[in-house]
Amino acid sequence: MRSHSPEPERAGDCLGSAGLIALCVLSCALASDLAAQERAPGAFLAPSTLENLSSEPNTVEVELTAAPERLSLFPGAQTEFWAYNGSVPGPTLEVSEGDRVIVHFRNELAYPTTVHWHGIHLPFTADGSPFHPVAPGESFVYEFTIHPGTAGTYWYHPHPHHDTGRQVAKGLHGAIIVRDPGDALPESLSERLLVLSDNRFDRDGQIDFAEPGSRQARIDEENGREGEVLFLNGRVMPELAIASGEIQRWRVINASGARTYRLALSGHSFVHVGSDGGLFEHPREVGEILLAAGERVELLVRGEGDPGSTAVLRSLPYDRYLPQTRPADWTDSLALATLRYSDEAPVDAVAIPERLRSVPPLDPDSATVERRMTLTKNRINGRMMQMDRIDEVAELGATEIWEIENLVGMDHSFHLHGFPFQVVERDGEPVNEPVWKDVVNVPKRSTLRFVVRFDRYPGKWMFHCHILDHEDAGMMGVLEVRDP
Ligand code: C2O
Ligand code: CU
Ligand code: CU
Repeated sequence: MRSHSPEPERAGDCLGSAGLIALCVLSCALASDLAAQERAPGAFLAPSTLENLSSEPNTVEVELTAAPERLSLFPGAQTEFWAYNGSVPGPTLEVSEGDRVIVHFRNELAYPTTVHWHGIHLPFTADGSPFHPVAPGESFVYEFTIHPGTAGTYWYHPHPHHDTGRQVAKGLHGAIIVRDPGDALPESLSERLLVLSDNRFDRDGQIDFAEPGSRQARIDEENGREGEVLFLNGRVMPELAIASGEIQRWRVINASGARTYRLALSGHSFVHVGSDGGLFEHPREVGEILLAAGERVELLVRGEGDPGSTAVLRSLPYDRYLPQTRPADWTDSLALATLRYSDEAPVDAVAIPERLRSVPPLDPDSATVERRMTLTKNRINGRMMQMDRIDEVAELGATEIWEIENLVGMDHSFHLHGFPFQVVERDGEPVNEPVWKDVVNVPKRSTLRFVVRFDRYPGKWMFHCHILDHEDAGMMGVLEVRDP
């Protein structure tokens, strides 16, 4: 492992292939974009979209590079981040159901990394799990197909063994939007992508990680590392514009390593229309939304405010902690963004359909195996992650019930690679509407059951807590799906 190799040269790469020149042009354009943004520090900024280099139909071919990059996202400082294609969050991968995706990835970090396509149903070799590290200076081509029925909001991030939390916190995370040409929500709704992250900075404006062995390090180990600076698409307290009467479609990703957001918008309710794996069957009216580490939601914001008024998007207090390490300020509400109404006269609202799509339920009665996973500090079923150990073996094509029991006094968010699941029971109460999930919050001392089907792709798949410090400390296991 070349973990101490020098920082790779960046400039030289522009002399490489035509593709790389295109990439440099792209990142220079991005840099001037960011410079323009700095003059208007409050504006909402959507991440850029990865440019499709392919002219083939139903094919999305992109280039993605992870490299150190100095950015001024933390107000008043130039901070060394690690960025995908020079930006934090990374550029969005936009694809449609049925597309073939080819990602030419290059690791220009001084450490091994991977790109994991969180929530996407794809071949084992393309999963970017700790089994397939990409060494510094090396490249890897990820190739997969987007299956029908998977339209939704996903994300990508590194997944190297023991180093995921640090790499995500350094800035390596980006959105994936999978579109369905038959999407029931009106196209005229303006869409916003909101990537949430938090971070901690030292006095020099550099990303701060706790000194090993310090009190803060012990708190981070327990809670997962949280930072007091909250970013929405890499900006602090940006301002989102809306017109009175307008309905907006928001896709929200929790890319924080540990923080749980309890989202609320002052003076507004949300229409919750989707979760990790896309739209629900029916919209739900809610006052707030809980979003644990790794989870996503789709929601509609109805512009019910008056022209010229403002509202604040906040994260309300949520006690996911053990009493002994609960942060002193956990009862504070944290502001994330301002929603500002234009002065224009109200526009007519667009009608929202009552039925969004059909989500075929996985049938728990067809399950042939029932597995139980207990969650305790840094362990699943009492064991810590070992790369050379297979913890569970499932048969390709099988439907199974997994029961996840959290035995401790803090929340954990449980994630399974490769195969989306549907929660069918929480603490003995049935959950009736089928919803595609790939990561689910398991509150303190609670139990949930989900049903999952191991279709199509054999291989070794990770299941883990998505509080990244827990994952890196060993709260992860390996499921091997075998073709019998
Ligand atoms: Cu989002 Cu195994 O990770
Ligand atoms: Cu994942
Ligand atoms: Cu955990």
